[in-house]
Amino acid sequence: MAVDVLLGLQWGDEGKGKIVDVLAPQYDLIARFQGGPNAGHTLEFDGKKFVLNTIPSGIFEKHTMNLIGNGVVIDPIILKREIDKLKEAGHDLLAKKNLMIARKAHLILPTHQLLDASSEKKMGDGKIGSTLKGIGPTYMDKTGRNGLRVGDINLPDFKEKYQKLVDKHRSILANYGEIEDFSEREKAFFEALELLKQFPHVDSEHLVAQYLKEGKKVLAEGAQGTMLDIDFGSYPFVTSSNTTTAGACTGLGIAPNKIGEVVGIFKAYCTRVGGGPFPTELDNEVGEELRKIGHEFGATTGRPRRTGWIDLPALKYAIMLNGVTQLVMTKADVLSGFEKIYACTHYKYNGEVIDYMPYDICTIKPEPIYEEIDGWNEDLTGIRAIDEIPAKLKAYIAYLEKHLEVPVKYLSVGPDRLQTLVLN
Ligand code: GDP
Ligand code: IMO
Ligand code: MG
Repeated sequence: MAVDVLLGLQWGDEGKGKIVDVLAPQYDLIARFQGGPNAGHTLEFDGKKFVLNTIPSGIFEKHTMNLIGNGVVIDPIILKREIDKLKEAGHDLLAKKNLMIARKAHLILPTHQLLDASSEKKMGDGKIGSTLKGIGPTYMDKTGRNGLRVGDINLPDFKEKYQKLVDKHRSILANYGEIEDFSEREKAFFEALELLKQFPHVDSEHLVAQYLKEGKKVLAEGAQGTMLDIDFGSYPFVTSSNTTTAGACTGLGIAPNKIGEVVGIFKAYCTRVGGGPFPTELDNEVGEELRKIGHEFGATTGRPRRTGWIDLPALKYAIMLNGVTQLVMTKADVLSGFEKIYACTHYKYNGEVIDYMPYDICTIKPEPIYEEIDGWNEDLTGIRAIDEIPAKLKAYIAYLEKHLEVPVKYLSVGPDRLQTLVLN
């Protein structure tokens, strides 16, 4: 058995949560492998909508277990809020016993959030546009070998370890200026840890290996998107983890030869939230229309998402980096009614025409070169069978498959679980 991976190929918010929920019945375990509560994964079914930040998107499936992997950074306060909200909605994860947490996952402290905010403030106009959840500072402490992990919370000297790290943060914050009072958040942090203690703490590497040994099926759920990867994204306008398939190996403890299918998900157009380059951005009324029809507002922060046409050089890059074997296209319904749609096939860059993502897209902006494609008028949201797909949408999919050289296996035509078609 091998671990399948599902991840985003653009700048996040491709619809990962929805598709993981759709695929969950086929899996015994869904495991988040990186990122933290900067993620917002939306699921809709039976007229209900849920946004998950830290919790894997398999929790609504009766027979599926869920794991928050070692590569994830956990804010106990946010995780508790998620768990409490789900309980109120009738999904008591403690009673259902369907959530496990990796001992080696790092903890986001209240002071990590303060550090995030101070760092962004100092950058002024050049800021990353972080979700301000403390992601960057927590991964910095992880790689700086100062971090606190879930497994530490049961140690007798946890409070001392915590205080030592907070003192270090205080001295950095003092350099930035005034330190905000965080005593309330600190209280909430320790309260939330008590809830965390009630969930099984596991070694994700052994757990996943055991699942595979028993012939069980595992799906690794990515957060953010490939273009936000710390190594290969539009650095420095990225997040602080590896969002790519390699991140699933380190974020769960899976050997690379145990990776099976890699499901890459993209929108029929493109969005980005936060700062940084976005070659196909439409800073005009067409972009505004995409935002309006596609409800393109952040699931975590509510910020308006920047919108643009599909970017094939960026997608090809993402497919190569991840070893994508199947594609999922979401939000095709949003493009209904556009007489013409456009696909960026090349960039004009530094006087040349290129078809790849160049090193520096932050200071030298690649200028997109588009191909025009006929749009379709039909409302797609009620489509439930592939023979109902309009011919022009079929042609758009065939066009993308030709350029991307990977089959589009699933087509999403609305936010609901049922608005999903299997194509191949
Ligand atoms: P994620 O972070 O990748 O899980 O994606 P988000 O949940 O942040 O953003 C995707 C948004 O699009 C959510 O509001 C989804 O409910 C919605 N969505 C997902 N698939 C579709 C689709 O095919 N059509 C439409 N109209 N909305 C979709
Ligand atoms: P999901 O999993 C879209 C963006 C932020 C910012 C940059 C760094 O829902 O697709 P960070 O909080 O990590 O310091 O922010 O990355 N970003 C996301 N954009 N979807 C996400 O997650 C994101 N998580 C972070 O907007 O530009
Ligand atoms: Mg999201």
